[in-house]
Amino acid sequence: MRTIALALLVLVGVSQAAFLLPYSLPNDLIQLMAFRETPQNAAISACQDIQFNYCQTTFNQFFGMDDSISWRNGSYIFNTVQKYLEMNVTELIKVCNTRTQFYQCLGSSYYTCMNLYTLLNKPQPDFSNTFDYVRTFRGLEWMCVGGFSEVVSQWDCLGTFPTTNAYNSCIQNFNQTVSAGNFCPAVQQTGSCLNDAYNAACGVGGAGYFGCENFRITFDNSCWGLRCMVDSTN
Ligand SMILES: *[C@@H]1O[C@H](CO)[C@@H](O)[C@H](O)[C@H]1NC(C)=O
Ligand SMILES: *[C@@H]1O[C@H](CO)[C@@H](O)[C@H](O)[C@H]1NC(C)=O
Ligand SMILES: *[C@@H]1O[C@H](CO)[C@@H](O)[C@H](O)[C@H]1NC(C)=O
Repeated sequence: MRTIALALLVLVGVSQAAFLLPYSLPNDLIQLMAFRETPQNAAISACQDIQFNYCQTTFNQFFGMDDSISWRNGSYIFNTVQKYLEMNVTELIKVCNTRTQFYQCLGSSYYTCMNLYTLLNKPQPDFSNTFDYVRTFRGLEWMCVGGFSEVVSQWDCLGTFPTTNAYNSCIQNFNQTVSAGNFCPAVQQTGSCLNDAYNAACGVGGAGYFGCENFRITFDNSCWGLRCMVDSTN
């Protein structure tokens, strides 16, 4: 009885909405992603510290984050952005506007800056902070651009879903199967697991595609050619 009460307390404690998907990757797999993300085109704009810092500071202001907060505080940024996304749709739309301004501020260097290879080559990077930083912006790119109408119309269900056992089961399976040897197949399989689970929870239509892409987009540059299936039964 006591165990059950404790378990329920723990569940209540963690059951907040989550639009940025909660999971973690070990350093060796973050490094593997970074190598796979090596910018191929020498003509691609560099990520200049002065511009990067300026745009970051402007982004921080909306969230009340200190000017000193940078990609090195990626987990803090992830958690802060998450809190705003889960407030209500109005706040989510404001976050998206702030993200658009950040994207425009960085201009042609946006993708060079939001890149694991670029950031991990700066002095003394912390791997999990860098990963959380990059996936915050990749997640925002999905929910504020391609997935925007879906997230606005199904904000409640899509936000609550990552607190369910169905979500945990997909992510636990990813955690237990992903390795350097089957990295992209594990991403693909997890995307399709999430597709089915989001559909089951939030209704067939755009929910499964939203959930699959919300996960897959983080790996867009390290697993080329993976795709989520648009549900054709709707
Ligand atoms: C941000 O990261 C820097 C460098 O790791 C660290 O010194 C600082 O304490 C961090 N700030 C916060 C608020 O976590
Ligand atoms: C959204 O949440 C913010 C912060 O909690 C609050 O100030 C605002 O009134 C809410 N807006 C709506 C439309 O519920
Ligand atoms: C699995 O999850 C644990 C706990 O969050 C984490 O420390 C570990 O890095 C994860 N491993 C993989 C391969 O995702």
